[in-house]
Amino acid sequence: MHDFLFKSGELHAEDVPVSRIVKRYGSPVYIYSHRTILRHFRAFSEAFDGYPHIICYAAKANSNSAILKILAEEGGGADVVSGGELFRAINAGIPANRIVYAGVGKTTEEIRYALKERILMFNVESEAELIEINRVAGIMKRNAPIALRVNPDIDPETHPYISTGLKRHKFGIPMEDALECYRIAKRMPHIEILGIHKHIGSQITKVSPFVDALKKLLSLVDNLRLNGMEIRYIDIGGGLGIPYNDEEPPQPKDLAKAVLPLLWGRDFTLIVEPGRSILGNAGILVTKVLYLKKGLGKDFVIVDAGMNDLIRPSLYGAFHRIVPVVKRKRKKIIADIVGPICESGDFLAKDREIERPFQGDLIAVMSAGAYGFSMASRYNSRPMVAEVIVRGKTFGIIRQRETYEDLIARERIPEDI
Ligand code: LLP
Repeated sequence: MHDFLFKSGELHAEDVPVSRIVKRYGSPVYIYSHRTILRHFRAFSEAFDGYPHIICYAAKANSNSAILKILAEEGGGADVVSGGELFRAINAGIPANRIVYAGVGKTTEEIRYALKERILMFNVESEAELIEINRVAGIMKRNAPIALRVNPDIDPETHPYISTGLKRHKFGIPMEDALECYRIAKRMPHIEILGIHKHIGSQITKVSPFVDALKKLLSLVDNLRLNGMEIRYIDIGGGLGIPYNDEEPPQPKDLAKAVLPLLWGRDFTLIVEPGRSILGNAGILVTKVLYLKKGLGKDFVIVDAGMNDLIRPSLYGAFHRIVPVVKRKRKKIIADIVGPICESGDFLAKDREIERPFQGDLIAVMSAGAYGFSMASRYNSRPMVAEVIVRGKTFGIIRQRETYEDLIARERIPEDI
């Protein structure tokens, strides 16, 4: 569900015509709906209501400060994977004791920073990392709260690049080694065992992989108890899919219905780390048609947004719906919708049937709120685009469009070279 709908043939973000936003802030521009973000976040908190839980929003999906602040005000926590994300989360008002920190390559500085801020727990991805966290905590005369991220070897049946919970992946600690690793953790003087974590992949469109993975985790938790280790936080990661086209992924309440029966009667705090399912359909990327070009056997619609602004189609072959901002009932054509970047992989859609646009028309790339701006780059020296949020009839900028000066602001030309 989202709040980007046509009213009298014109695409609106909540109650604001998209073209009005472009008039004010230019193109390309990411536009988010406040109402959708809230509804999606609340769908999670309501689904898990009645069981102690924290919704730790996966900041990587979209880490704009204004968005993090909205979620902070709703009582959300954060799942972060870098010092930069931790900084953003804290800066936006997410309490440190609601922040979990995953990622296979935490540096010494990042570990120190997270310890200093007193985050809820590190989701530890290897024994070597555990050793480093213990060492840094020792120097700081602290205890580091940890969960081990275990790799349950469950196939989430999603795109290979966003599947993470199989044995061949770099993520987490193999199930077979987990008990031993917890034992090692228990012997470490500056480690406090708090929880267990798993995340098996993203854009998952059924609940069974979540259930299967959780069952594996719970049997490990029972085994840990027999070995004198009590787990208080059970973190089931993120990964719930969204409709990009005609998929019908489970809703947060379906996920809750599937996993909560396994948890009733057990004394945990549950952590869920949704990213895409909160932000994905809460954002669109609006771009302007620059040129139409007839190729050999196909048409190209050349727009002012490229793979540097939204890389998902190029990187994963991801499908994003594309709609005209103003419907004009023109004849349909089949075209590749491509950006200005000097790469053949620079496309937003391939062989797509769309209403024939004219030069200067605006088109919207739907479901671009998650892993859109957060994966954008300045490739081809293209300044990062603007981000705008809409709430009802009002809208405001949450990230200014960069300028050419911004592109070179941190560059230096050494005199002696
Ligand atoms: N927790 C952890 C530890 C994760 O690695 C991720 C995503 C999440 C939570 C949130 O997953 P979500 O609820 O958003 O599915 N760039 C890719 C997606 C990569 C996901 C990486 N990890 C894409 O555009 O599809």
